[in-house]
Amino acid sequence: MKQKTLFYCTECGNETPKWAGRCPACGAWNTIVEQPAARSAGNRGGGAVSAQPAQRPRPITELPGGEEIRFPTGMGELDRVLGGGAVQGSLVLVGGAPGIGKSTLMLQICSKLCETSKVLYVSGEESAYQLRLRARRLRAENERLFVLSETRLDAILESVAAEQPDVLIVDSIQTLYHDTIDAPAGSVSQVKDCTLSLMQLAKGQGVTIFVIGHVNKDGAIAGPKVLEHMVDCVLYFEGDQHSTHRILRAAKNRFGATNEIGVFEMGDAGLREVENPSELLLSDRPKDAPGTCVTCVMEGVRPVLAEIQALVVTSGGGNPRRTSNGFDYNRMAMLLAVLEKRGGLKVSACDAYLNIIGGLWLDEPAADLAAVVALASSYLDRPVPSGLVAIGEVGLTGELRMVNQLEQRISEVRRLGFTRCVIPTPRTRALPNYPGLELIPVRNIGEAIRAALRPRE
Ligand code: TYD
Ligand code: MG
Repeated sequence: MKQKTLFYCTECGNETPKWAGRCPACGAWNTIVEQPAARSAGNRGGGAVSAQPAQRPRPITELPGGEEIRFPTGMGELDRVLGGGAVQGSLVLVGGAPGIGKSTLMLQICSKLCETSKVLYVSGEESAYQLRLRARRLRAENERLFVLSETRLDAILESVAAEQPDVLIVDSIQTLYHDTIDAPAGSVSQVKDCTLSLMQLAKGQGVTIFVIGHVNKDGAIAGPKVLEHMVDCVLYFEGDQHSTHRILRAAKNRFGATNEIGVFEMGDAGLREVENPSELLLSDRPKDAPGTCVTCVMEGVRPVLAEIQALVVTSGGGNPRRTSNGFDYNRMAMLLAVLEKRGGLKVSACDAYLNIIGGLWLDEPAADLAAVVALASSYLDRPVPSGLVAIGEVGLTGELRMVNQLEQRISEVRRLGFTRCVIPTPRTRALPNYPGLELIPVRNIGEAIRAALRPRE
């Protein structure tokens, strides 16, 4: 049986079975105190469950069922990530770093939702006055949008009972607290308990709920991570705070796939949907600079062009440094080893850095070839011509392997005006002809580097 929690940190709310001088979660000193038995979330839940009559198992075919009811949020990019609109009675957690634009996104969808539904926006972060100002700026003012500046869960549940909204937005889960729990708002036990109550509201009354949760940079102490298993969908809103584009991705979705992304651009009037992410991601691409190569990855059903940048420099001694951003570190190490052994480039004595532009995370093997080409381009100081794209998986012998949905990727490459595309040699059947786009089939990384890199002038 699980050991019962007896202590918690008054600073971050972390629960621990043992007393310690220093909290293992937040590192604060002398903050661990004993907790009264009644405050543990386990006890509360245990009492509630035992009061209910036990249910008998039934054949699955006899259960009520049918299609879930979906409705559009009015933002196509959000609907796409949710799997084709929001599901009635679901609880969606929207996580992201502070200041990334979560409140902005939610307030913007409110104005669209109000056309068909009654919406209650509960904010524990901003006053009603601030919300009004923000809504005006985002043109989200609507008489069917109800606003409440509140942090007590009981008061929020009372308002929901009185107003009967179709959609409830909670901004943010870290500000909510339940009176019966003797822990500060934002602590693990508070966020878990409040989420559980909201989940019961969603399932019991069919209210669709969006809950905002902040993610801490240093390990997400009481952030969305501890709630992921409880809710129906978890969306993460990501992006570099210094750039204007934002990516929304699903980490979990009980009603759809999790491989779609939504792309937005933050501007003066809030978030703008980006229907052609490739154009945005490639807009600042340097021309004729060594160390950059474009590839095409599939984000769900959508092909997206992404720029991979590499920098390979002679190491100052000791272990060479390797850093990757938006690309798997171990995969990068493997590609460097293949480049050394099969491509004949002495990269083992060099520091190497790999960066994916625009906050994308490339976890598809199809991006291997472009990474190899970018690394080779930087090492040899020879640029890749700006009209060239490289797609393909690289194997350990330096061979190129076919990727799925190649034709769809090539169509996107051509649509964006690229003129040459390096691909693995097709083994089974010939590819169709793409007017204006030259396909360059190659068998290994040596051939690819020769085809992709321009000779030094
Ligand atoms: P916000 O939605 O408050 O972030 P979060 O709720 O995730 O903490 O957005 C914060 C940032 O967005 C803030 O730095 C200002 C910027 N912003 C704009 O650039 N344009 C806008 O129209 C709005 C509302 C915000
Ligand atoms: Mg906010």
